[in-house]
Amino acid sequence: MSTKKQAHLIAATHSTGSHLRGWRHPSAPARPATDARAFIDAVRELENALFDAVFIGETTGVMPGPDEMHQHDSMVNDSPDPTLLLAAVAAATSRIGLITTASTSLTQPSSLARLLASLDHLSAGRAGWNVVTSRFETEARNFGIDPRMLRSPIRYEIADEFVAIVKELWDSVGDEAITTDQEGRQTVDLAKARHLDHRGKHFQVSGMLDITRPPQGHPVILQAGMSEEGRELTAREADLALAPGGGWQAKETREDLRRRAAAHGRDPDSLLVLAVFPAVLVADTRAEAESRVREFAALLSPAEQQRPSILAATATDIADIIENWLDAGAADGFAIGFPYLRGPIEAFGRLVIPELQRRGIYRTAYEGTTLRENLGLPRPPGSRPR
Ligand SMILES: Cc1cc2nc3c(=O)[nH]c(=O)nc-3n(C[C@H](O)[C@H](O)[C@H](O)COP(=O)(O)O)c2cc1C
Repeated sequence: MSTKKQAHLIAATHSTGSHLRGWRHPSAPARPATDARAFIDAVRELENALFDAVFIGETTGVMPGPDEMHQHDSMVNDSPDPTLLLAAVAAATSRIGLITTASTSLTQPSSLARLLASLDHLSAGRAGWNVVTSRFETEARNFGIDPRMLRSPIRYEIADEFVAIVKELWDSVGDEAITTDQEGRQTVDLAKARHLDHRGKHFQVSGMLDITRPPQGHPVILQAGMSEEGRELTAREADLALAPGGGWQAKETREDLRRRAAAHGRDPDSLLVLAVFPAVLVADTRAEAESRVREFAALLSPAEQQRPSILAATATDIADIIENWLDAGAADGFAIGFPYLRGPIEAFGRLVIPELQRRGIYRTAYEGTTLRENLGLPRPPGSRPR
């Protein structure tokens, strides 16, 4: 077994891919968002490449864009509920983690705790939750919320209380209340279950969950908030953090988050920080990489040409970046976007993964069956102290 630090990889995607106009590429599937089979095929490629997880981002409501075309495209693209889509993926895969996104400003703790516990059971311990607080005025208006709330630190005050309640609900019918017989049949002793009676500033929740503790104890929590309040939530509650920004910004973010986690009494190694590579395309040569960058830039409207498109590179160049960043302590892994489904994923698996394995910095088989096991994160103990 290699002693080199291993890279964790998650694929960060919307169901249409992660490039603004990648879905227009001639090789992209016609309706990837609402055709679950196209998405499942792409996730199977990720599982073949031994990715830790697929992660689907979400904002609710059609976003106002820079021009009319953007609004039209948003609707054409569709945005199915990521948790439902991942439930379909769960049935067609067996090892890859499934990280959904849900907002603490736009949902309720009890319904979300149940939904995520369900995904964890249905996938035999592969669920994760990207905790977001939501930012856009259209989202606030869809849910009848004052948009000023989403621009203020109160959204993280709500998120703190929300996440704590969700974790307590996951623990409510905890390991101590469940007996499993030799045939695997479970009995629940409700006298040993924990009745929650939460009366906080933003939520009142009384009762317990009508589903047993998730296989992972707690589905994996991911957070990408970069404000002071967002970083504090990450340091207290998250298993995974996303560090945006190129260069060494990720290293500074990782060091800051690890310091904060330690200040909250946590082992800093229990928080994995992943650097974000928004849209990666692997090419056979540097010349081909340059031509592919031009190909994708041509998919953008003149107004969008200012925005970053993709950063295409050869397998060796990509492996160099991953290895250098790991060695320098800039990241524990990488959240990689692919410009469209599924060709770029297949190429990454065929060209980059063997190169990482050859260098001894990537697994050759999944270590476990749950997302926590594959990330090397412990299962939280049965009950949280109140
Ligand atoms: C890679 C990445 C993915 C994100 N995905 C989502 C998402 O799916 N939905 C969402 O509402 N916000 C998403 N965010 C926004 C963050 O949750 C967060 O709001 C943002 O980084 C600003 O930080 P702050 O909330 O602390 O101000 C994402 C951010 C990053 C860097």
